[in-house]
Order: sequence, then C-alpha cells, then structure tokens
Amino acid sequence: MPSYAFLLAAPALALRHPMSMTAQPPSRRSFVSGAAAALASAAAGPAVAYVLPDLPYDYAALEPSIDAATMKFHHDKHHATYIAGINGKLDEKDQPPIAELMKDAKAKGFNNAGGGVYNHDLFWKALAPAGKGGAPSKALAAAIDKKFGSLDKLKEEWAALGAPASTFGSGWVWLIVQGKDLAICNSPNQDNPLMKGAATEGIPILGLDVWEHAYYLKYQNRRPEYVAAFWDIVNWNQVNEWYDDALAGKAPQF
Ligand SMILES: [Fe+2]
Repeated sequence: MPSYAFLLAAPALALRHPMSMTAQPPSRRSFVSGAAAALASAAAGPAVAYVLPDLPYDYAALEPSIDAATMKFHHDKHHATYIAGINGKLDEKDQPPIAELMKDAKAKGFNNAGGGVYNHDLFWKALAPAGKGGAPSKALAAAIDKKFGSLDKLKEEWAALGAPASTFGSGWVWLIVQGKDLAICNSPNQDNPLMKGAATEGIPILGLDVWEHAYYLKYQNRRPEYVAAFWDIVNWNQVNEWYDDALAGKAPQF
C-alpha cells in the first residue's frame, strides 16, 4: 500500500496565510471579503500578494497522461502552499513580478517557496489537453533539429535527464534558451534556470515537474512512464510564444 502522507502535508500550511484563501487571479482580488479584506487593506504600501492562478483547463483534461486527482492535489494544495509560503516570507510587501523575484531567489532564500510559485505557474500553462497543444513552430522545430538532431532525439535526452538516476529525488527538467541556442537541463527541488547560481542558467520555455507529488498517485515508482506521457500534453502553442520571447531575452511572465 503506497503512502500518501506527502500529499496530506500541504493543505494546513496553505490555509495559515489569509491571502492564500483568496486563491484568485488579480482581476478578482477586489472580491476578497471579511477578515481577509481587512488584513489586505491594512498592508502597508502598494504591495499585492501573489495569488494562485486558475488552471486553464479542467482537472481531468490532461488524462490519461495526468489524472484528475493528481491535478487537484497538485494545484489546489501543493501550488497553494508555495503561494502561501512566499507571501509569508515577504509579508505581502515589496513583491515584484514573480519572474523578477527569481533572479536573486537563491541568495535571498526564496528558491523553494518562490521557485515553487514560478515553476508551477509555468507548468500549468505549458500543458494542454492531448491534441490541443499544436506543434513546434517552424523556428522552434529548426532550433530543436539544430541542437538535438530531431524532436525524438530531444525526447530521448529529456527522458534520460528526467530519470531518477539523473534527477534524484525532487526536481524539474527544463528546455531553456541560452542566448540564441536551446539546451536542456535539470534542477533540484524548486530551483530553476532563471536563478543566479543555478546549476544551469537560461530562460525556461518548457518544464516538467518530476516531484513525486506530480505523478505518484497514477504512476507510483514508474516515473519514466510519466515523463514519456508528458509529451502528449505539451502546449506547443504556448512554448512557441515563450521561445520567441526568450530569443529577445524575455522570460515567461505570470
Ligand atoms: Fe509540483
């Protein structure tokens, strides 16, 4: 019987922070009511707390690659916990755009809570229901062929990088832009390539969460099956936009 204890540890933390209960996109912050509104209005300065974005699809929309139960826990509990964590660390003050916060995240000790927010913001948007995500643009496909030989070769390298032997424990696998070139890399925990001091630096345009909470309910120890199934739900339409932005030096913004 597998243990799901790691899935149950997150919710309590998420509810400690009043803003975490709003869990709404910026456009709906004004509907915060009661004690949460009083606390929010009492915060000094123009600071606005980070909020949990809505998923751009239903919990079950990514099946069979990712099951609905995993999506619900992952978004509603785990991502919410990172939101609460970074809001708590910053005390709802001086909160820059989350991409900007990444730069000095390691030096300031925000790489776990802040990285967890940015990485999951990116992850949800990088996914789409099977058959809805389009294909690599002509420019991106050419860059993939130049760097890896083909998309299939990229997938092979990605699978090796995402395997427990390469990304031991919790972490992420990334497709990044370095200058004008593509590369793939991994990062431990909630680090990402935007962080100064990351093992590999660059602008991420696609990321895969290989924490157990991202796949364990469906795949248990079979992480390679999850890594392979990921390719069926990549939102290439979004990745293409991020690729164009990255060539101009701009990271995905949330
Ligand atoms: Fe995650």
